[in-house]
Amino acid sequence: MHKAKVFPSLLAADFSVIESEIKKVRQAGADAIHLDVMDNKYVPNKSFPIEKIKSFYKKISLPIDIHLMIEKPEDFIDQFLSFNPSFLSFHAEACSDPKKLIEKIKSKNCKAGLAVNAKVSVDSILPFLSLLDFVLVMTVEAGFGGQKFIEDNIQKIKELDKLRKENNLVFEIEVDGGVNTENSKKLILAGTNILVSGTTIFKSDFVSKTIKKLKTV
Ligand code: DX5
Ligand code: ZN
Repeated sequence: MHKAKVFPSLLAADFSVIESEIKKVRQAGADAIHLDVMDNKYVPNKSFPIEKIKSFYKKISLPIDIHLMIEKPEDFIDQFLSFNPSFLSFHAEACSDPKKLIEKIKSKNCKAGLAVNAKVSVDSILPFLSLLDFVLVMTVEAGFGGQKFIEDNIQKIKELDKLRKENNLVFEIEVDGGVNTENSKKLILAGTNILVSGTTIFKSDFVSKTIKKLKTV
């Protein structure tokens, strides 16, 4: 049976009641928490600076998935690894030596991923594919929650799934941006293993139902 894991994106949560927001999605079947880090350079927005994550990461009683949308992730990596994430991804074009950073992340017992922004082609990460634990395919332009899903990006998921099969590779495919209960089925059928979802989950009145619906085809 086709099935995906679901990682709620905390960007859409209500931070005034962060502990109950996390508890709510954990009890509803979330597999990990997705944390977006933005520096107002790689993307025109700022979120979850290191100090802020320090203040709440111990309350996250689920595995942590950090998505770095920052320039020079190599300069900040030690601090993010100190949060003991289970997954950590960054954008290759923002980094001077992606291979070195992937190896460093993996050496800390964390899964390493490369994120492919909406206008970036899969070709740009081909040299690193065999090293990766996962690829994060962005289905919106990185920077903001609540944007509209860009349909064209499904092609990238299919392309990655094909490359994975043809080359006997083991990386997982994570999809992030505008994911909802309308498009989740086709994303899973195209080869997605992990669905990130912010607005759809945190704005839902029936979180458990929503997560269940996202997970299955
Ligand atoms: C966008 C972020 C996403 C975002 C997803 O740049 O990487 O993780 O929080 O939010 P929704 O699901 O609302 O599009
Ligand atoms: Zn993200």
